[in-house]
Amino acid sequence: ASTTEVDYSSVQPGQAIKAIFRKQPVFIRNLTQAEIDAANKVDISTLRDPQTLAERTKPGKENWLITMGVCTHLGCVPLGAGEGEPRGEFGGYFCPCHGSSYDTAARIRKGPAPLNLQVPDYAFTSDTVVTIG
Ligand code: FES
Repeated sequence: ASTTEVDYSSVQPGQAIKAIFRKQPVFIRNLTQAEIDAANKVDISTLRDPQTLAERTKPGKENWLITMGVCTHLGCVPLGAGEGEPRGEFGGYFCPCHGSSYDTAARIRKGPAPLNLQVPDYAFTSDTVVTIG
């Protein structure tokens, strides 16, 4: 199985970048404190796919949200990682194909997608590099 190394050091809070992992898009997002707070404020018992932000990130690096950029409905690439792209009403990602909205932890909040954006296996292998896979 192949891995992907990404230099995430230039990604500022509020920004995201896209990379490719096993021929699929992956989003690497540096959450702002407000986005972290918004994610942590949600009562997860109300969620379709209940997970906390902490369960979807690494300890001490809760601001780094790394997910596949593949909508869990029918596999379109959601908007929100590219500069200026709409992030939908929950501030995370928005899938234009059938209107699924994901929150700032990339959890499904509205629309037909059944599951949160998938978190791949990854590890921070230096201060600047994350290895996905
Ligand atoms: Fe994303 Fe249908 S593929 S909402």
